[in-house]
Amino acid sequence: MLIQNQVDLKDKHTFSTPAIAQEFIEVVELSQVEEVLRYWQNKPYLILGGGSNLLFLNSTVGRVLKVNLQGWTPVAETSQHVWIDVAAGVSWHDWVIQSLEQGWYGLENLALIPGNVGASPMQNIGAYGVEVREYIDSVEVIDRTTIQMHRIENKDCSFAYRSSAFKTLWKNKYLICSVRFKLCKGKHALRTEYGAIREELTKMGTTPELAGAREVAEAVMSIRRSKLPDPKEIGNAGSFFKNPSVPMHIAQALLKDHPTMPQYPSENKDMVKLAAGWLIEQAGLKGIRFGDAGVHSKQALVLVNYGQASGAEIWNLALRVQEKVRAQFGVVLEPEVNAI
Ligand code: FAD
Ligand code: EPU
Repeated sequence: MLIQNQVDLKDKHTFSTPAIAQEFIEVVELSQVEEVLRYWQNKPYLILGGGSNLLFLNSTVGRVLKVNLQGWTPVAETSQHVWIDVAAGVSWHDWVIQSLEQGWYGLENLALIPGNVGASPMQNIGAYGVEVREYIDSVEVIDRTTIQMHRIENKDCSFAYRSSAFKTLWKNKYLICSVRFKLCKGKHALRTEYGAIREELTKMGTTPELAGAREVAEAVMSIRRSKLPDPKEIGNAGSFFKNPSVPMHIAQALLKDHPTMPQYPSENKDMVKLAAGWLIEQAGLKGIRFGDAGVHSKQALVLVNYGQASGAEIWNLALRVQEKVRAQFGVVLEPEVNAI
């Protein structure tokens, strides 16, 4: 077990704000995970994956455990499905591409989401009409206090829009070691109804009827590249806030005052989901910049670090955005990004 001190985390998280870990350990094997959990038992430490959904509020961070477990193994198969265990440190996008190459379908709409497999159940990653919970069979975890391993079935994970029990009830309770996916073999109903997927497929010279899963992944990748800033060029963590849900009567009143406001069905049938990006843009904040902290000029839901912003400066900007949207629309935006 190699313990490193004063490790610069700037290139280990996508916001790229200054952050130094006082103690940093990277694990590549399960035996090392157990060793570190014993070493840091009952002490606070941050589990780090790809660092694409984090904001460090302070430039000094205490203990950091980077989970870099690798590999994937098919564990069961029927004529229609395959179950595969994928280690937490595997890059999410690489796994999506590998699964498609194997002829295992389901994850195509989730192509190009940054980060690692281990974090995918945390906020139940989602994009283009699909959420990962639809393809998770179970999650293998280690309890950080007892250092016992458990397998948690999908139905017990409380998956919801950008949420799970790992992010709420069990916050900081478990380290996720691997995720077991249940994917489809052979013919599989593709999801092309969302956003610009159809148009993108047409541009590619195909149609939703003729396209395969690989082409849907290509279409999603192309849409994402046109909208979202690449963290290698501009620091960001994707959508900074969740899309808020409001009760039906409030949604109706808002629509009366703002007839072009996008509204969507929510998981809760008494609620309506609003587009946070639209609210932020209409509040006049799209493209604003304070020093190197800004609201992205193409996607107002993404806060960005143009280079030298600190985590505190990004957070202050987030508070301003929250306050302006609340004052203008009476809607409270909840951060999606994990503030550390
Ligand atoms: P990290 O940022 O390293 O960690 C996130 C949280 O999970 C932290 O609380 C961390 O402690 C915890 N964690 C990480 N690994 C483990 C583990 N093994 N065990 C226990 N806890 C762990 N998200 C979407 O849902 N949809 C999108 O379309 C999307 N688009 C994005 C686009 C961009 C450009 C960026 C930068 C981000 C985007 N995101 C999106 C957010 C992000 O990619 C996902 O949340 C991703 O799953 C985070 O993975 P990570 O490995 O980087 O996690
Ligand atoms: N909009 C604006 N102005 C903006 C941005 C968006 O008016 O600056 C409007 C759009 O015109 C559209 C609506 O808001 O009517 C929704 O926009 P978009 O389709 O771009 O998606 P989003 O709601 O902003 C969500 C997810 C993304 C995911 C995409 C595609 C959340 C918080 N965000 O964004 O996830 O990739 O849909 O499915 O749910 C992430 O979680 O980090 C993330 C990037």
